[in-house]
Amino acid sequence: MNQDNIESILEETRIFSPPQSDTSFSSLDHWQITSDAFTTDFEGTWGKLAQQHLTWQKTFTQVLDETNPPFYRWFSDGQINLSENCLDRHVKYGLGDRTAIIWQGEAGDVRHISYTELLANVCKAANTLKSLGVKTGDRVVLYMPMIPETAMAMLACARIGATHSVVFGGFSAQSLRDRIEDAGASVVITADGGYRRGVVHALKLSVDDALSQGCKSVNHLLVVKHGGNDVAWQEGRDVDWHEALAAQSDICPAEILDSEHPLFILYTSGSTGKPKGIVHSTAGYLLWAHLTMQYSFDFKPESDVFWCTADVGWITGHSYSVYGPLSNGGTSLMYEGVPTYPDAGRIWKICQEHQVTVFYTAPTAIRALIKAGDDYPNAYDLSKLRVLGTVGEPINPEAWMWYHKTIGQERCPIVDTWWQTETGGHMIAPMPFATPTKPGSATLPLPGVFAEVVDADGEVVKEGGGLLVLTKPWPSMLRGIWGDKSRFIETYWQKFANKGYYFAGDGARKDEDGYIWIMGRVDDVLNVSGHRLGTMEIESALVSHPAVAEAAVVGCPDDIKGEGIFAFVTLKTTETNDLVQVLRAHVSQEIGAIAKPDVIRFTHDLPKTRSGKIMRRLLRDIAAGKAITSDISTLENQSVIAILQGQ
Ligand code: WTA
Repeated sequence: MNQDNIESILEETRIFSPPQSDTSFSSLDHWQITSDAFTTDFEGTWGKLAQQHLTWQKTFTQVLDETNPPFYRWFSDGQINLSENCLDRHVKYGLGDRTAIIWQGEAGDVRHISYTELLANVCKAANTLKSLGVKTGDRVVLYMPMIPETAMAMLACARIGATHSVVFGGFSAQSLRDRIEDAGASVVITADGGYRRGVVHALKLSVDDALSQGCKSVNHLLVVKHGGNDVAWQEGRDVDWHEALAAQSDICPAEILDSEHPLFILYTSGSTGKPKGIVHSTAGYLLWAHLTMQYSFDFKPESDVFWCTADVGWITGHSYSVYGPLSNGGTSLMYEGVPTYPDAGRIWKICQEHQVTVFYTAPTAIRALIKAGDDYPNAYDLSKLRVLGTVGEPINPEAWMWYHKTIGQERCPIVDTWWQTETGGHMIAPMPFATPTKPGSATLPLPGVFAEVVDADGEVVKEGGGLLVLTKPWPSMLRGIWGDKSRFIETYWQKFANKGYYFAGDGARKDEDGYIWIMGRVDDVLNVSGHRLGTMEIESALVSHPAVAEAAVVGCPDDIKGEGIFAFVTLKTTETNDLVQVLRAHVSQEIGAIAKPDVIRFTHDLPKTRSGKIMRRLLRDIAAGKAITSDISTLENQSVIAILQGQ
């Protein structure tokens, strides 16, 4: 987060009372009572909720198994199938005709898919996967556009107990290859293409490319024909989704699965090494995706139309486009395309046309829409909106106020939700009709969540700044990093090992009311448009180019994206013609377009301490165009500063 934003947040004093509503949490007292129930009887309260809200194949007798921390297990002797909870139970209770998914295509096409229809398709897809040899415990990678088939594929995997790993369609063939290989997937599900800004993006081409050099574990590619573009076809390996599903029965019994069965792996960036595969369980994850829909969004399945704009390639899309709304038996809107295409009114047009009631997006999108001007939202009827959410990065008070006034017409509570890929669902967020809000603060931990701001020794900071930790386990917590136990412990649990706290990687401040203000990452992870990127990943991509000797990447302030990518590069060559473009394209090819540096500055040297460590704070100051505040007395070569500053 950039300094100006932090300063405006630090000066923020406005408080907004929650509007009145007939809701599950109607006052802060109610929030307190529910939160207190967890303090008094932690396991009993979780156990009760899990019994009440989920449909079990075999009920559990133990809520939390903490015999081997940090490898916590929840409801572990129970058995449950997530797809049954998202589909069969609703159909069984007479909700089969209710719309599960409203799909809006960029080109204007719309589909309404009922629960009955979704269940039938999920069964056919599950039978298709079985026919391709996929068994419980196998991994299936999805590289898909935002179409209903993506949700069907996820649910089909869940139905047969295959662990899915969705890879965002904007990642390059190389990134896809890394993820397929790390997961050891036997099947990849993709589409011929997906729409963005009126152009069909050739997803299958990237999969073909990924598979051409490695990915030996993959036996089949299941391809949804969606873009209408020509694709190469490898007989025997490639299978047409629609043809295959048409040949299958629409009945597929849900596999009996243990609560702790790995539901999915989702790759996310850390401060070191390659992206790590975050593993989520079935029961615990589902419980929290289900409950947070009600807690943070006041979701009413019978009347709400919920729209989460995140791509399913991210955790937000998993929990709040697919599993959360469907587990509640509600209606989720999915949009394939760019929010500002063909113009910046697209989002508001969709809200009007589909009568969206709960809308959830990222501050970056809000900032881009503010820039486009108020005429766009003002041209549409947004009166159905009742709750507005944000996620992914700190929201600056100006963006919060615009969202509140121009979109919410001062009627809709703003829910700023803090959470992570690792947490599975919301951790800190207001209850929309109970918690008074302050622009820029995610407010208070959700009932059941124990979050604190602590100092470097792990001592709780009552008021002031520090590091954000979770002091107790929670059902939807990550179960590990795929194939790397020690990295799991080192990354999240080592820092406060003596206390047993989960370290989130974020800095935060607690104010006089106990409200939490997230200040951004304290590690080498960037947050670009709400997307996580490791500086080291981008540095490795840069140095893999033959012209590059060394690279150091830091974040820089960006009015729209929150954070931009600034790369300092030393070269092996003296020829710099077009090299900025070449290197940007190279990073795009190695990782994906989202990782392209905004600025690349060439230098003959990088600032290092005598022990050879790159002085990142100094580089951050330079990238922000600020006066240098760091101690440079240990800098070997002081003359390099002017070059780094671009002088
Ligand atoms: C940041 C996204 C401020 C934070 C769900 C976290 C936020 C990282 C907020 C996780 C928020 C997420 N306010 N910062 N409301 N929500 N973040 O794994 O730095 O893609 O650690 O999960 O995003 O990003 P991830």
